[in-house]
Amino acid sequence: MSDSSYETIRIDKQDGITFLVMNRPEKRNAMNPQMHYEMDRALPELEADPDTKIVVLTGAGDTFCAGQDLREYFRGLDDNPAERRRVGEASERWRNRRLSGYNKPTIAMVNGYCVGGGFTQMLCCDFAIAADEAIFSLSEVNWGILPGGLVSKKLSDAILPRHAMLYACTGRTFGGKRAEEIGMITQSVPLAELRKVTEDLARELMEKNPEVLRATKQAIRAVRTMNDDQAFDYLAAKSAEIKLRDKENAYSNGIKQFLDDKSYKPTFGAYDREKAKSE
Ligand code: COA
Repeated sequence: MSDSSYETIRIDKQDGITFLVMNRPEKRNAMNPQMHYEMDRALPELEADPDTKIVVLTGAGDTFCAGQDLREYFRGLDDNPAERRRVGEASERWRNRRLSGYNKPTIAMVNGYCVGGGFTQMLCCDFAIAADEAIFSLSEVNWGILPGGLVSKKLSDAILPRHAMLYACTGRTFGGKRAEEIGMITQSVPLAELRKVTEDLARELMEKNPEVLRATKQAIRAVRTMNDDQAFDYLAAKSAEIKLRDKENAYSNGIKQFLDDKSYKPTFGAYDREKAKSE
């Protein structure tokens, strides 16, 4: 199923997995203002959509994203500070605020070039699976700016400083395998397997209790900048939040299926959610 009310993005739904596609292949999916506004509108809609369990962010054609649109986002707004401000806010909002704190798991499926500003949404997704053939570049240094918006920040949060320094200061290109090696993505696979590996991960995640998953992924992000006392308190509160929100009662059902029914081992997979619902 596809939503035709957007022009620069595409939404394809398939058995719980929603592919959110940056869709300007003729411009290598460079982000123009319209794309930022459409993403900013689509993400909250998908968050509330019962048919969307997982969001996979990817690019149309053979590119993930060529970064901000140099014509429409940069040169076109140089003399329009008010619009630059509005678009700038939408640009950060859909990626940093919406994607980073998303209530559902998000996977970036990097199918080709990922350049400059395109790093931000890749890094803001919970997981990133890239093709070995993908080409990453922090190109900003090559055309007179630094990796702005939140690119430098997201990059420095994700990888070790020596790597961030090298790639930001040289703009040097690197492939999926190198991106995996430096911990910038989750996994790199041959392009021919990219979609299958991404869907397998999505299906694995869909087996888990969504409230437990939501709290877990938000906690993993949040504790990075906390001290031990803060993290201890935050995690206790987040655990209480699961019990409050979880109508499936994962905790009791998980323990019951292991201790009483002896029907599964948590080490090797999730408790049976369907069975738990019918009891
Ligand atoms: N902004 C605006 N237009 C862009 C763009 C961008 N970031 N990236 C690509 N395009 C446009 C090109 O201008 C070209 O438009 P045209 O057909 O009207 O001339 C079209 O997309 C195809 O680009 P092209 O360079 O011919 O494709 P390619 O496959 O040979 O190369 C890239 C792809 C991504 C390597 C190359 O386009 C590139 O280096 N783009 C700039 C990326 C960048 O520096 N982004 C940082 C922004 S923060």
